Amino acid sequence: MTSTHDAPAGTDNAAHAVKIAVSGVHKTFSKAGEDVHVLDDVDLDIREGEFLAIVGPSGCGKSTLLNCMAGFETLTSGRITIDGEPVRKPSPKRVFVFQETGIFPWFSVWDNIGFGLGKMSFDKKHEIVMRYIELVGLQGFEKAFPAELSGGMKQRVEFARALAVEPDVLYLDEPFGALDAFTRIEMRREIVRIWQTTGKTCVLVTHDVEEAVELADRVAVMTRRPATIQEVLDNPLPRPRDPDDRGFRDIKERIFDILGVERRV
Ligand SMILES: Nc1ncnc2c1ncn2[C@@H]1O[C@H](COP(=O)(O)OP(=O)(O)OP(=O)(O)O)[C@@H](O)[C@H]1O
Ligand SMILES: [Mg+2]
Repeated sequence: MTSTHDAPAGTDNAAHAVKIAVSGVHKTFSKAGEDVHVLDDVDLDIREGEFLAIVGPSGCGKSTLLNCMAGFETLTSGRITIDGEPVRKPSPKRVFVFQETGIFPWFSVWDNIGFGLGKMSFDKKHEIVMRYIELVGLQGFEKAFPAELSGGMKQRVEFARALAVEPDVLYLDEPFGALDAFTRIEMRREIVRIWQTTGKTCVLVTHDVEEAVELADRVAVMTRRPATIQEVLDNPLPRPRDPDDRGFRDIKERIFDILGVERRV
């Protein structure tokens, strides 16, 4: 496979421009007259084409940060830009792959993937849908309905549907949580392959430190709520990555240390 990501991750990315710039972001929810201060002065630059993972304690505000980056939540203060443009509302250029599969059970694989494409000729739509069916390895299943598919296959449909609208950023919020352990391993490899093939900027939120180290070029570690980014670690390990490797375990330990120190506070 030829792509810029074939080089050890982290080496080529340093030259890449900033894609998403998060600066001085605060987010407070007001619920039943009570303020919940979730994000506290979050700064984070995400580079064009990189795979960045965000890890942090449960409930610290990982999803909130992702929702802010996607324009689903407004900021209390601070600024988020993509390609220099402030993020104000959701855009099809940035697509979520949710944890629970969001595909429509009453639509075929073909219809699910074609759903977001809007009005265009059948031939054009077919060409795009088939391209993404092939990318995610679902050839022959285009007429199948979700109930006939395994969990991993449904997730492939979800990825294809997200990618078919050609977003330049992919936000992934715990996308593998609903899958069994074996399928999860398979889908982690799959998302790396899709990322390497398409060159999208990927932002993954996960509570699974091993998953973050396996997938990401850099791992941003959040503190407890009100959360900020405590540290961003480079992960230059070559892919495919083996969790049993010394280097892999070292990075994992460093992340656990950062989270652990935070937990003792
Ligand atoms: N719409 C909302 N209104 C009020 N409070 C909210 C809202 N969304 C999130 N919160 C609160 O913000 C905090 C952070 O939630 P968030 O879902 O961002 O955390 P998380 O790190 O993604 O958690 P998890 O690891 O469980 O997925 C929680 O205390 C949550 O209750
Ligand atoms: Mg969450």
